[in-house]
Amino acid sequence: MKQSTLHLPDHLAVIMDGNGRWAEQRGQRRSIGHLAGARAMREVVAHCARAGIPQLTLYAFSSDNWRRPPAEVSALLTLFTSHFRSQGVALARAGIKLTVIGRRSRLPMPLRSAIRDAEARTAQGRVMQLRVAIDYSSREAIRRAEGSGTSPGDTSDGSPMLPPVDLLMRTGGERRLSDFLLWECAYAELLFLDVLWPDITPAILDDAFADFARRDRRFGNVSQRVSA
Ligand code: FPP
Repeated sequence: MKQSTLHLPDHLAVIMDGNGRWAEQRGQRRSIGHLAGARAMREVVAHCARAGIPQLTLYAFSSDNWRRPPAEVSALLTLFTSHFRSQGVALARAGIKLTVIGRRSRLPMPLRSAIRDAEARTAQGRVMQLRVAIDYSSREAIRRAEGSGTSPGDTSDGSPMLPPVDLLMRTGGERRLSDFLLWECAYAELLFLDVLWPDITPAILDDAFADFARRDRRFGNVSQRVSA
């Protein structure tokens, strides 16, 4: 149900961290954690759309994640491919427009084609704009923009500069940005949660939205809540 009374972030960005630990705690392979993470991601996307979040950007794979063991990288890329192949119809039906940001040239062809198909299928979505960052590096985007004179959010796939992030949330207990939307987070409210990504729930998200609504965002100005 749309929470019309709450002041929601226009642009929510999420660092989905903790899949590996979630699996390790259960004595399972890390790839099982990523599978659970994909399930959680689908629920979060659906909940954000229902709640009325206009833009959601999710960090799925950083350009530094190529350093992980080849088996884990391969499992992730395979998971992304099957996710985009299977999610196009559901996202389109829910009115969610999907865009993948980041560098595509290093991604395997089946993943690139799954991304292209899902983007095409969902292009008319007007309920929520969903961006998934894959092989993404904010420093690289900024460097490229400096070199070319374009805006810093430009990625190699030609996507325009992203709108400013209002709320940046990270699960998994770490308190860092990990090269994600550094430019766009200039005035983002930051929220770090100890919950591991696969354990995220709609109730936790609703608490995050309520927390955001209580923040006094001043953008360098004085508070609008107090008089001079
Ligand atoms: C970070 O947790 C997570 C990732 C590098 C992968 C994120 C992927 C998903 C949430 C799967 C779904 C994504 C798509 C696009 C279908 P980690 O592995 O670093 O966890 P750890 O810090 O506990 O080791």
